[in-house]
Amino acid sequence: MSEPIYLDYNATTPLDPRVFEVMKEWYLGPPANSGSRTHIYGQRAKDAVEHARAQVAELVAAKPEEVIFTSGATESNNLAILGLAAHGEATGRKHIVSSSIEHMAVLEPLRYLAKKGFEIELAPVTTGGYVEPAAIRGMLRPDTLLVSVMHANNETGILQPVYEIAALVQGTGTLFHTDAAQTYGKEVPALRELPADLISISGHKIYGPQGIGALVVRRRDQLVKRPVQPLLFGGGQERGLRPGTLPVALAVGLGEAARLAELEWPARRSSAVAIREQLLCDLQAVDHYINGDPARCLPHVLNVSFPGIDSEAFLMATRDIIATSNGSACTTTSYKPSHVLVAMGLSDDQVESAIRISWGPSISRYPGNLLLTAIENISI
Ligand SMILES: Cc1ncc(COP(=O)(O)O)c(C=O)c1O
Repeated sequence: MSEPIYLDYNATTPLDPRVFEVMKEWYLGPPANSGSRTHIYGQRAKDAVEHARAQVAELVAAKPEEVIFTSGATESNNLAILGLAAHGEATGRKHIVSSSIEHMAVLEPLRYLAKKGFEIELAPVTTGGYVEPAAIRGMLRPDTLLVSVMHANNETGILQPVYEIAALVQGTGTLFHTDAAQTYGKEVPALRELPADLISISGHKIYGPQGIGALVVRRRDQLVKRPVQPLLFGGGQERGLRPGTLPVALAVGLGEAARLAELEWPARRSSAVAIREQLLCDLQAVDHYINGDPARCLPHVLNVSFPGIDSEAFLMATRDIIATSNGSACTTTSYKPSHVLVAMGLSDDQVESAIRISWGPSISRYPGNLLLTAIENISI
C-alpha cells in the first residue's frame, strides 16, 4: 500500500533536499564552532552563520544584527514575552494585550507572567477567526508593555490585521510582537512592511530544519538599550540574548530555506492557490463548513468541518490514506476541543468535526478524490 499523502504542512514541512545539501557540508566537514576565534575552522563557521543571519534578515527587511537565532518559534515567543518582564517591572508597565487564538507558546508564557503579577488581557476574535484592531485599541493603556498578536493562526490559516494593530502602538512605549511562525517566508511583502518590534520565526515551516528559528528584535532607537533581556546565561552568544554554541548546520539550513523562500514564494503561493480552489470545488459534493473567513486565509490551509463526523473518528478512519490533523500538533498528545475554534464561537458540532488540511508544492498527489471517498465512506 502506498504511503498516506502528507497534508499537515502547518505542523511541519518536509526538509527541502537543497537545504539538506547545504547543511550536510557542516555536519560532515571539519568541526566548526562559530565562537572559536583562534582558528580558521571557527572563522569559517562564523562567516557561514553571519551569511545565514543576513539571509534570514532579508526576508523581513531587518538588519542582520537584529536576528537572534533560537531553537524555534516556541523559544522565540518565550524570549519575546518573558524577556520583557524585567523591562516591564522597571518601567511600571505590567499590562499585556494579546488574543484568545494565540499558539500555546504565547499563551503559556503569558499565563506565567500573570502569576508573577502582570495583567494579561486577551482580545476576542470574530467568527471569521480574526482580531478586530478596535478590540485591541480599546484595551491599550499607558502602562501597556506589549501587544502580541500572531500573524496567521496555525489552525485556521486566518491572517490577523497585524499592520493595523502595530500602527496602534507606534510611537508609544508599548512594544509589538508577532508570532510569524506560519507566515515567515510565505507572506513576504507583508512581513517586510510590518513595523513590529519583535518577530518570531521557525525554520521547519518553510522547508528548513527542525530545531532552529529566530527572534527578530528590531531597534526603534539605536541609542536606547534593548528592552528584551535574556532567559539563559552563559557564553554571551547572540548578543548575550541567547547564549549557547550555535548549531552551525541548522543556522545555515535556515538561511538557505529563507533564500529559497525569497525566490520561490510567488510560485509556491500560486501552486497553493490552485490546490485550494480545486479542493473547495470538490468539497461542494459533501456537506461542510469552512471555518474562518476565506478571504483572509493563507492559500495553503483549509480548516473544514464535516457535520456529524467526529474529527477523531475521521483521522483514525483516514490515517492510511491522508495525514491531516485537528488542532495544533504542538499542543498536546490527547484531543482537547480547539481553543481557537471555541474562541471563534463555533458550535460544538463544528468544533468537534473540524479538520485542518494544509499543503505545499511538494505534496505527492492531489488529495481531493481520496478526501471525498473517505468522507463518503465514513458518513455511511
Ligand atoms: C503559530 C505558531 N507558533 C509557534 C509554533 C511553535 O514553533 P516551533 O515548532 O518552531 O517551536 C508553531 C508551530 O506549530 C506555530 O504554528
